[in-house]
Amino acid sequence: MGSTRGSVLLLLCGLVLLAGAQTSKSNVPRLKLSYKEMLQSNNLVTFEGLANSSAYHTFLLDEEKGRLVVGAKDHIFSFNLLNISKDYSQIPWPPSTTRRDECKWAGKDLSRECANFVKVLQPLNQTHLYVCGTGAFHPVCGFLEVGRRPEDNLFRLGPFIENGRGKSPYDPKLLTASMLIDGELYSGTSADFMGRDFAIFRTLGKHHPIRTEQHDSRWLNDPRFVSVHLIPESDNPEDDKIYLFFRESAIDGEHAGKATHARIGQLCKNDLGGHRSLVNKWTTFLKARLVCSVPGPNGIDTHFDELQDVFLMSTKDPKNPIVYTVFTTSSNIFKGSAVCLYSMVDIRRVFLGPYAHRDGPNYQWVPFQGRVPYPRPGTCPSKTFGGFDTTKDLPDDVITFARSHPAMFHPVYPINNKPIIVKTDVDYQFTQIVVDKVDAEDGQYDVMFIGTDIGTVMKVVSVPRGSWHDLEEVLLEEMTVFREPTAITAMELSTKQQQLYLGSSIGVSQMPLHRCEVYGKACAECCLARDPYCAWDGTECSRYFPMAKRRTRRQDIRNGDPLTQCSDLQHQDELNGQTTMLEKSVFGVENSSTFLECSPKSQRALTSWQYQRTSEDRKQEVKAEERLILTEQGLLIRTLGRSDSGLYLCQAVEHGFMQTLVKVTLEVIDTERLEDLLHRGQETASQTPAQDPPPPHPPHLPPLPSSPHRESPNQKLWYRDFLSLVNHPTLNSVDEFCEQVWKRERKHKRQKAQLVQQQQQQQQRGQSPTMHTHGPHVRAHGLVSAKWKHLQDRQKGRNRRTHELERAPRSV
Ligand SMILES: *[C@@H]1O[C@H](CO)[C@@H](O)[C@H](O)[C@H]1NC(C)=O
Ligand SMILES: *[C@@H]1O[C@H](CO)[C@@H](O)[C@H](O)[C@H]1NC(C)=O
Ligand SMILES: *[C@@H]1O[C@H](CO)[C@@H](O)[C@H](O)[C@H]1NC(C)=O
Ligand SMILES: *[C@@H]1O[C@H](CO)[C@@H](O)[C@H](O)[C@H]1NC(C)=O
Repeated sequence: MGSTRGSVLLLLCGLVLLAGAQTSKSNVPRLKLSYKEMLQSNNLVTFEGLANSSAYHTFLLDEEKGRLVVGAKDHIFSFNLLNISKDYSQIPWPPSTTRRDECKWAGKDLSRECANFVKVLQPLNQTHLYVCGTGAFHPVCGFLEVGRRPEDNLFRLGPFIENGRGKSPYDPKLLTASMLIDGELYSGTSADFMGRDFAIFRTLGKHHPIRTEQHDSRWLNDPRFVSVHLIPESDNPEDDKIYLFFRESAIDGEHAGKATHARIGQLCKNDLGGHRSLVNKWTTFLKARLVCSVPGPNGIDTHFDELQDVFLMSTKDPKNPIVYTVFTTSSNIFKGSAVCLYSMVDIRRVFLGPYAHRDGPNYQWVPFQGRVPYPRPGTCPSKTFGGFDTTKDLPDDVITFARSHPAMFHPVYPINNKPIIVKTDVDYQFTQIVVDKVDAEDGQYDVMFIGTDIGTVMKVVSVPRGSWHDLEEVLLEEMTVFREPTAITAMELSTKQQQLYLGSSIGVSQMPLHRCEVYGKACAECCLARDPYCAWDGTECSRYFPMAKRRTRRQDIRNGDPLTQCSDLQHQDELNGQTTMLEKSVFGVENSSTFLECSPKSQRALTSWQYQRTSEDRKQEVKAEERLILTEQGLLIRTLGRSDSGLYLCQAVEHGFMQTLVKVTLEVIDTERLEDLLHRGQETASQTPAQDPPPPHPPHLPPLPSSPHRESPNQKLWYRDFLSLVNHPTLNSVDEFCEQVWKRERKHKRQKAQLVQQQQQQQQRGQSPTMHTHGPHVRAHGLVSAKWKHLQDRQKGRNRRTHELERAPRSV
C-alpha cells in the first residue's frame, strides 16, 4: 500500500512540474539503449548459459582461429566470434563424485563451491591451451587441444590432469591473475584450502617452481590479484619484466583503520631465486602503490583504492604501453568509480626511487636513506651488463636487503595527476575496461568500453579540449547487455571482428563496437554523435574507414559542431530533416487534457516548444504554468481551452544546433460539438487519449488510491489524466523526473509550512520563529491528500457530461 501511494504521488507530481527543469546535461550518456532495444536493433547476440553452469568469467580470445574460449562452472566453451549463439562447443569438466563428496564433508556448499570453476585459460603452444579450475576445493589443470588451424575444428580436453595448486585458487570466490609465457605460468593466487597463503608463483617449464616469501605481510598482505603482463624494459630480453596488478590491505601503521591499497608489482622474467637464502623465492620482487584520487575542496582527497581491472593500451613503443585502470571506493557510505591512466615511465621512476623503510621512534615509513647494495635490488641479472649472470650469483647483502624492502616509498600518480573519468552520483560501479584505438578524420582517439556491476556498458571517448592535458570525456552510449542486472566480469574486444564480448555469472553477450545508423540519417545528427567509428557519408551515418577518401564525408569528433560540418548541406539536410521530423494532428476535447509527445533520441538535447495559433501569427515559446507542463517526454496540456488550438513545434537544441523534431496541429473540440458528434453515432478519429476509449488498466500501474473517493467521477477523470502520462512508453523516466520534482515540492512546502507557522506563532505569542520539520512519511501522505483535494476542487462541476467517463476503467 505504501508503495502504491508513492507511485500515485509520483504521478501526481507529474502534473505540477515546473519550468526550468532542464539544465546542464553534459554528464549523461548521449544515447541510452535498453536490453530490448539492443536485441531488437540486432546489436546484441546472447548466450543465455546452461542450466547446470554459471560463472562465465574466464575469457581467452583467439582472433586467428576466430574463437572465444570461455571457462565457467564445470564447463569450457568455445564460441564463434562471428556469432556466439550460432555454433558453439562445450566440454563438461565437473569434479569427480569423490571430490565433490570430500568438498561437502569439509563443510562447503555443494552447488556454489563444490564444483570445478575454471580460473586459468592460457595458450600453451600452437595446438594446446593450459586450463585450470578449482576442482571442488582441489585445484586441477589440464591440456585443451584446439588444433593448429581454424579448420582443424578441434576442441577436446586431454586425459592427463595435473595438480593445480599455486595455479588456481581452491575457493571459487577468489581470483587468479595468470599468464603463460615461454612455457612458464605466472600466477597470482591463493595456494591453500583456507585461502590464507597468497603468493605469486611461476610453475610449469624447465625451472624449479618459484614463489614469493610465505607468510610475510611486507611482501603481500591479503592480496587480490587483478592481472599479469609482460612488458619489456629494453631491447635486451634479459631485462624483460613481469608486472602484476593487485590490491591488498595496507600494513598497520601505514594508514588509520583498515584500508586497501592498489599495487603494481614487478619481477624479472629471468629470476631463478637465491642461492643461500630466498631459495626458490623471487629475489627481484618490488611493489609500489598506485594512487587514483580526486582532490577535495577542503584538502581531503577522495581515494579510489579498490583496483578492479587493468587494460594495457599498446603504443608504437612496446616498452611503453598506457596503463588503463578501473577503481572503485572501499567506502560503505558512498559508491564511486574512476578510471586512471598511468605511464610506464612514471612507474619505472618509482621503482628506481627510494625504498620504503620503517624507522624512528614511531616505527613509521620513511624513504630508505642508507647505502643500497649493488646490484640494486629489482635489477634483472644480465650476462652483458652488470656482471651477474643469474640471481643465484647475487651477493648476500643484496638478497637480505631485497627480502626486507619489497615496497617502494613513493606511490605512482596517474597521468595528469587525476582520474580521466569519475562517477560518484550513480547507483552502479565500474568493473571492467577495454580500450580501442580508433582513427578519425581529425586524429586518433582511444575509445573506452567500461563494464558495470549492473550489466551495462559505457562507451566513452576522451577528446582534448585545448591540449592533451585537458581532456573532455564524451559519454557516447550506455547499453544494457544482460537480461537482468548482473556484474560484467570479463570483457574482450576483437578489432578484427569489430565486436565486444562480455561475461557475467548468467551468460555471455556480444555486441558490435559501433551502430552508426542509430544516430540518425542526417549529417547534423551523425556529427553531433561525436563517435570516432562513424561519419556521415553523403547519405547516412555509417562506419568511418580512414583509407577510403570521400569528399562528401563529414565527421567532427573534437567539436561535434554540425554548423561547420553540415551548413553547406542546408538544403539537403532539410530534406533529410523531413524524414526524421514527425508531423501529426491531435484532437482534444475542451476541459480535458492532452499530451504532446516529443522525446529526442539524444539525452543531451534540450527541448522546447513553440506555439503558433495561425500561420499569420508569430511563433511564441510555450512557458510552463499550472496548465502547461513541460516534461522530458513532451508537453502536457491540462484543461484544454478552445484557444489552445494551433500549431505546436517541438525543438531540440544540442551543442548549439537546433532541430525541429515534432510538428503537432492541435484542434480543440468544444463539448457541444462532441455531444453532437457522439449523438450522430460517429466515431471521431483521434489520437489523443482524452478522446479514445480509455485503454485497459496497465499491469504495471498502481491501482487508484482507495476510499473515500473510490468511485467518484472526479477521480475517474483524474485517472484518465494520469493515463495520458502512463500510456507513455517511457513511464520510468517520467517517474524519475517526478521524483526530482517531488523533492523540490517537499522543500517548497516545508518553506511554506514554516512561513505559516511563523505567522501563527507571531500572532499568538509574538515569539521568534523556530524550525519545524515533519518526517518524510507524514509529509508524503499530507502531500497526496492536499494535492488530491486541490485537484478535485479544480475539477468540480466540469466535464461531467463527457461520454467516455462512463467507460472509465475501474480500479482493482
Ligand atoms: C546469430 O545467430 C543466431 C542463431 O543462428 C541468429 O538467430 C541471429 O540472427 C544471429 N545474429 C547475428 C547478428 O548474426
Ligand atoms: C550440463 O547440461 C548439458 C546439457 O544441457 C550437458 O551436455 C552437460 O553434460 C551437463 N554438464 C554436466 C557437468 O553435467
Ligand atoms: C603442446 O603441448 C602438449 C601438451 O604438453 C603436447 O602434447 C603437444 O605435443 C604440444 N604441441 C606442440 C605443437 O608442441
Ligand atoms: C469548461 O471550463 C470552463 C472554465 O472553468 C467552464 O466555464 C465551462 O463551463 C466548462 N465547459 C464544460 C463543457 O464543462
